[in-house]
Amino acid sequence: MTASATGPLGGQRILLCVGGGIAAYKALELVRRLREAGAQVQVAMTAGAQQFVTPLSFQALSGHPARTTLWDSSAEQAMGHLELARWADRVVVAPATADLLARLAHGLADDLVSTLCLATEAPLAVVPAMNHRMWQHPATVANVAVLRARGAQVIGPDDGPLAEGESGPGRLREPDAIVAELASTTAVQAGPGLLQGLKVVVSAGPTYEDLDPVRYLGNRSSGKMGFAVAASAARQGAQVVLVAGPVQLETPPGVRRVDVRSAAQMREAVSAALPADIYIGAAAVADYTPRAFSPNKIKKTGTGETLAVDLVRTPDILAEVARREDAGLKLVVGFAAETDNIADYARQKLAAKRLDLIVANRVGVPGAGFESDDNAMTAYWPGGERDFPPAPKVRLADGLVELVAQRLQA
Ligand code: CTP
Repeated sequence: MTASATGPLGGQRILLCVGGGIAAYKALELVRRLREAGAQVQVAMTAGAQQFVTPLSFQALSGHPARTTLWDSSAEQAMGHLELARWADRVVVAPATADLLARLAHGLADDLVSTLCLATEAPLAVVPAMNHRMWQHPATVANVAVLRARGAQVIGPDDGPLAEGESGPGRLREPDAIVAELASTTAVQAGPGLLQGLKVVVSAGPTYEDLDPVRYLGNRSSGKMGFAVAASAARQGAQVVLVAGPVQLETPPGVRRVDVRSAAQMREAVSAALPADIYIGAAAVADYTPRAFSPNKIKKTGTGETLAVDLVRTPDILAEVARREDAGLKLVVGFAAETDNIADYARQKLAAKRLDLIVANRVGVPGAGFESDDNAMTAYWPGGERDFPPAPKVRLADGLVELVAQRLQA
């Protein structure tokens, strides 16, 4: 059994975390299938998993010692657990027991597997296996929803005969089917993606600046463009952190999402996500925020016929990021929504904010802009530009990510 770089998972480094259920024996077969599909595999086991299968079996099949505890100094010397978390291009938890799903949903870090899952920035896939009543329990349903909302891929479970003679949803999906599902979310089916191995931070959506406990200043950004760009970058093999303002959108597969509300929170979250190779500022960040938040609801009585709200400028996250020398950025991309003089304003922003690329679109016309699924835009960079004719945002995002990959090589 040799790893082939051209298989459907060619070149991917997969950290397989094995949970403590009877289906753990199938994880042995999964290691074989992952390697046949071209992946490199390292295995970490929970204490429970070791009651069902031995680390030695995983070592024989994966070609690497299986990791079993945080407290093994010789294993830590070879590759520390944080290094292992960084090594992984993706993390697959199989079988994911009810207990393990709960611990992942709550961000616990009380053993090796939970710590690895918390420490990694790689996309997470969970492959649940458990008794059908445990799978259908509201607690498990809620935990799975939390993981999904964070961008985890949930594979299975299948319906059918379970241990102890019962039957229902809870069977671990067959190893071949797991590999097929993992491959279906892999960047590009053949060969590495255009952004393989790069870390991309994307901001998306509006920000809400609170005035009092019931009111805020917001804008009409839907987040669709930023979410489409994040999804496209992930399909091209990038490790993506999506910092999202308040929007009602599903997290794209394989993307790590951080939800924020205000411009100040967005600035914090973007800063915490750095260093990265690429920053794409697609969010419509409020340029002004109320000078003071009123802890009590602002009443009409006492304010009269007019109300002046004192606003102060927010820091320009994009310009700040572009200036940072410790962020490791190779490319900084901004957006500009304009109603007129598009090219002039966009080029001014490109220079003033020291960007590598700016994407400008016309707002205030029907069939494009904020809430629309379609858009048209022009990208400008020093010495060049490219028009993207009207198309669905999902298609435009693919085109933009391709351009980003080209500009990286320039
Ligand atoms: N941006 C940011 N932080 C801010 C404001 C804007 O990061 N506080 C980023 C946006 O994510 C976007 C770009 O800057 O990539 C938009 O630039 P901006 O100059 O704010 O554009 P407009 O809002 O169109 O500005 P203006 O009102 O000056 O036209």
